[in-house]
Amino acid sequence: MHILFFSRFFFFFVFLTIILSSKGFASDARCYKIGVIGTGYVGLVLGTCLAEIGHTVTCCDLDTRKIDSLNNGLIPIYEHGLEELVIKNLHDNRLFFTTEVAEAIQSNDIIFITVGTPESLNGEANLDFVFDTARTIGKNLKNPKTIFVKSTVPMGTVQKIKEIITNHNHFNTPFEIGYAPEFLREGSSVNDFMNPDRVVVGAENPDTASLFKKIVAPILKKGAKFLSTSIASAEMIKYAANSFLSVKISFINEIADFCELVGADVDEVAMGIGLDKRIGAEFLKPGPGFGGSCFPKDTLAFLKAAEKNGTSLHVIQAAVDVNDFRPSKIVDRLETMLGSFDRKKIALLGLAFKEETDDVRASPALKLMEIMVKKGAFIQAYDPIAGTQVQNDSPNFEVKASLIEALAGVDAVLLATPWKEFLEFDWTKARLLTKGDLFFDCRNLLDPVTMNEATFELIQIGKKIDRF
Ligand SMILES: NC(=O)c1ccc[n+]([C@@H]2O[C@H](COP(=O)([O-])OP(=O)(O)OC[C@H]3O[C@@H](n4cnc5c(N)ncnc54)[C@H](O)[C@@H]3O)[C@@H](O)[C@H]2O)c1
Repeated sequence: MHILFFSRFFFFFVFLTIILSSKGFASDARCYKIGVIGTGYVGLVLGTCLAEIGHTVTCCDLDTRKIDSLNNGLIPIYEHGLEELVIKNLHDNRLFFTTEVAEAIQSNDIIFITVGTPESLNGEANLDFVFDTARTIGKNLKNPKTIFVKSTVPMGTVQKIKEIITNHNHFNTPFEIGYAPEFLREGSSVNDFMNPDRVVVGAENPDTASLFKKIVAPILKKGAKFLSTSIASAEMIKYAANSFLSVKISFINEIADFCELVGADVDEVAMGIGLDKRIGAEFLKPGPGFGGSCFPKDTLAFLKAAEKNGTSLHVIQAAVDVNDFRPSKIVDRLETMLGSFDRKKIALLGLAFKEETDDVRASPALKLMEIMVKKGAFIQAYDPIAGTQVQNDSPNFEVKASLIEALAGVDAVLLATPWKEFLEFDWTKARLLTKGDLFFDCRNLLDPVTMNEATFELIQIGKKIDRF
């Protein structure tokens, strides 16, 4: 009788384990109730992916329009694969959106802070949103919680957040805090979240780090490295990582300029150095400089943080300086080839700071546009996704609805964002639309032979320039 009972129990247990593993969850995986404060790029991707791996997540934001549209299954950002996951998890009742921040704090055991830390006027990270959130958390701390900061913040900020929460914690409710830097890249953020190289958490208490490890257990199961550090190290890791990648970009851009002078080809050089594992092939693509919502502001904030601590980061400063001059260098080169921008029509291809995103924050394309407009050019711009994100307050700048419209009657073309649509376009037909034949591909995206056959005079970065 006993044997029969235990054997049935054993088989039921094995069956349950198989079912759970087939769903991608570790047999010891636990589902938590999580609140995410700030539903921007990071908060939305984080919240949706945490729901996808089995947790119950409430994403909150003060922006009513954003939350209303999310509750209707409409995604305010363009991010590959995100929409399907949001809709799926909304239907499965694992993902909720609300503007009731206090309620989201009170009803969840784990809170992630993902509000923005934009650049302030003096270049430092503006921490107002983060500190506001800390005050709201403190006031609503009615039962024990663990708080993970994900916003990118300078060294020492998590300690300040802890103090603010403590000062507003009138119920003296116990809480723990950790810092979990976010490394996702816009354009591939869902995949980056689900398949990261590494997951880092900084915590004072080992239990906080191990709780974080449990939250992301299904992701770690796929092979990502897990690193638990002090809070200060985790804060530093985020800035140091972004700064290192920025240095790599400025480095290859300078090498590209040098290549032009000596007849070398930067793409061959990048491959030759990138095959060395110590260097790595990523981020060795020359272009109009780094942009977007992270690298420009994070490098500046890192420099400012160093200055405040009485030191200098010369290498990072040099990378920022190179980057600041990059767009004007490109425009100057185009101007030399055109003679002048005065009353010239230019097709600007791409407005997003990179492909596969609609984010135009600190986009090099917009800097190129501004400089050319100042020099008297008329810009006809086109972006497959980001066109509606750009404010159009200059009569010399028009966002067109199609690539064909952007090319009509232009003296030259400047390709600023490497969208696939540009790669697949029929450039022979396009040549019938343009007035001039000059084509500056500052992403080295297009095939020189194809463009030559289409009778465009193709200029790319870091290539031989014996014509000029
Ligand atoms: N965007 C990225 O690729 C990326 C990658 C890694 C890290 N980060 C960092 O993550 C943080 C968030 O970046 P983002 O791009 O998602 O910013 P974002 O501007 O897209 O989103 C921030 C959101 O926070 C909301 N918010 C502000 N104050 C709030 C409050 N008190 N309560 C509730 N909501 C509030 C805003 O309305 C906004 O929707 C930043 O620190 C950023 O540096 C961003």
